[in-house]
Amino acid sequence: MAEKNTFYITTPIYYPSNKLHVGNSYTTVAADALARFKRLTGYDVWFLTGTDEHGQKIQRQADASGKKPIEFVDEIVAWIKELWEELDIAYDDFIRTTEPRHKEKVADIFTRFHEQGDIYKGKYEGWYCTPCEAYWTERQLAEGKCPDCGRDVELIAEEAYFFRMSRYADRLMKHIENNPDFIQPPSRKNEMINNFLKPGLEDLCVSRTSFNWGIPVPFDPEHVIYVWLDALSNYITALGYGEEGSNFDKFWPADVQLIGKDILRFHTIYWPIFLMALDLPLPKTVFGHGWLMLQDGKMSKSKGNAVDPRVLAGRYSSDALRYFLLREIPFGQDGIFSLENFIVRINTDLANDLGNLVSRTLTMAERYFEGVLPEPVESGEASDADLKTIALETPAAVEAFMDQLKTSDALAELWKLVRRSNKYIDENMPWNLAKDPAKKERLGTVIYNLIESIRFIAVILQPFMPRSPQIIWEQIGLKGETQLQNWSSLRNWGEIKPGIKVERGDDLFPRLNLQAEIREMQDGQPSEKKAESEKTTEKDDLISLDQFQQVDLRVAEIKFAERIPKSDKLLKIEVSLGEDEKRQVVAGIAEHYQPDELVGKKVLFVANLKPVKLRGVLSQGMLLAATAEDGNLSLTALDRKMPAGSRIS
Ligand code: MSP
Repeated sequence: MAEKNTFYITTPIYYPSNKLHVGNSYTTVAADALARFKRLTGYDVWFLTGTDEHGQKIQRQADASGKKPIEFVDEIVAWIKELWEELDIAYDDFIRTTEPRHKEKVADIFTRFHEQGDIYKGKYEGWYCTPCEAYWTERQLAEGKCPDCGRDVELIAEEAYFFRMSRYADRLMKHIENNPDFIQPPSRKNEMINNFLKPGLEDLCVSRTSFNWGIPVPFDPEHVIYVWLDALSNYITALGYGEEGSNFDKFWPADVQLIGKDILRFHTIYWPIFLMALDLPLPKTVFGHGWLMLQDGKMSKSKGNAVDPRVLAGRYSSDALRYFLLREIPFGQDGIFSLENFIVRINTDLANDLGNLVSRTLTMAERYFEGVLPEPVESGEASDADLKTIALETPAAVEAFMDQLKTSDALAELWKLVRRSNKYIDENMPWNLAKDPAKKERLGTVIYNLIESIRFIAVILQPFMPRSPQIIWEQIGLKGETQLQNWSSLRNWGEIKPGIKVERGDDLFPRLNLQAEIREMQDGQPSEKKAESEKTTEKDDLISLDQFQQVDLRVAEIKFAERIPKSDKLLKIEVSLGEDEKRQVVAGIAEHYQPDELVGKKVLFVANLKPVKLRGVLSQGMLLAATAEDGNLSLTALDRKMPAGSRIS
């Protein structure tokens, strides 16, 4: 058997200085989706994440909390690991920079740099931004503040080791120019060249003496190694760099190093130069993604529950949060996080589009075929051919976007199939086919095609939202049928065997009440329980009797009905509300009732709606009708004879 291609993907290692917010969980969710996608499409994947535990920032925070640095970080690292578990992050390794396997190798790397003359001893005098752990010259400051984060910088003057960056600057410039994939998206490349490489690289200070929470310089233990040299090395130390037969030989160079745009300079200038000094190949792609912002600016943990990824995942499900993150940050740009955006996405994409597709289809399969998947029949219908073509084209289209790390476009592509499938229901109107026994075969084909389409969707969805496909497998009778859940099963349409039992279960994503969610989350009464649809009957959503009585509900008798030209959905209807009161209404029920079957029916009617014109036809009220989840519709009837015009209260 041919060996699989390998794929090594990394995230930045997070500072365990604070709990993470929903924005900085983004990198790891995106990396996980890519790692899962590559596994699904046949690669031998290694996915690394971890924590960056040394440095002045962590030491200060530990001091402020009265804990030893290691105790301080242990607690936060435990929290971060729980977060990754809750978000279904399937990493292959988690590296902590305080582990011996890392510290020993970083010390060796530093010694080698020193021995080969890349590192020399001098004195540093300049500015330091502790939150960014970054050195700045006077000239680089932005109005006296850190040009990256805008916070205060400190003047430091201490003996230090320096790395001769300039030795490698030309080589790096050439590499960037000759390898267009190295810095992605391409817009970020010019930023690095113009702002840092062209003005000339200054030597980088790579040790500190004014605190001791770090890896000591082996030959001069008064110094600790600069936290970025320590941290960047994690990508190779975790693979077992320097050990024979280790994962390093198998997986290095990395295929994708995913980072936020704020740490691009460290990853596209310092990191490649350190690698060149070690005589190692450079990663194939360093991808700097955009940020998730709040409407009023940068995200911070102090915004409370509404940005706490564990609260959000606990309340709305990890799949919903993952979907939002992967869909909301467009390729190369920033996205906006607000509870409102988040709930609207859940309601539209997940509850309305995906959830409804699954529940409508399964309801109909149960109602019309007792839950046994019917046999499809070759039909020649245009809608069948279109659905099938789109389904068969979707995997390659999604893969092409994922290869460019465009998770948002990939999901948008998949949702075209979700929406096409919902449209297929509306086009074929199974509830009408079900009325005519002669159309049973056609009805069966429609249901079969829908379930096959749901299977396609669930296979492709797995890397993005690992939990929902599991629920879908159960509902469409494919639990444990791994050969129908893998990527190659999408080569052909019609792989599911008729006769399997399907069963509608709970809704995948209950619709949420936006106002109630905002109130609960922002009033600071979060519960980590799953959202329930009961929330829509929250006490503030109730109406008073007075409010109800403002609606003039009456019995209306239909006297006349006709189709409105050029409309599939609308009927013009005349009703009587008693002896001398007549109304004309436009009702969207043409797909469910023939005009002549309506005449004589007595139905419930809202008599005091403001008149409107639809397609140029005046509508002076509304007929009440019930709509089932599968789209079936029924006008409301009375169970005793009542005169037209009677009031309903
Ligand atoms: N420890 C360094 C990385 C060292 S890698 C060798 C670090 N840590 S961090 O915890 O501050 O940031 C980790 C990641 O979170 C970065 O990629 C950063 O861009 C990302 N994000 C922080 N806030 C973010 C948003 N609001 N939105 C998206 N990503 C964000 O930097």
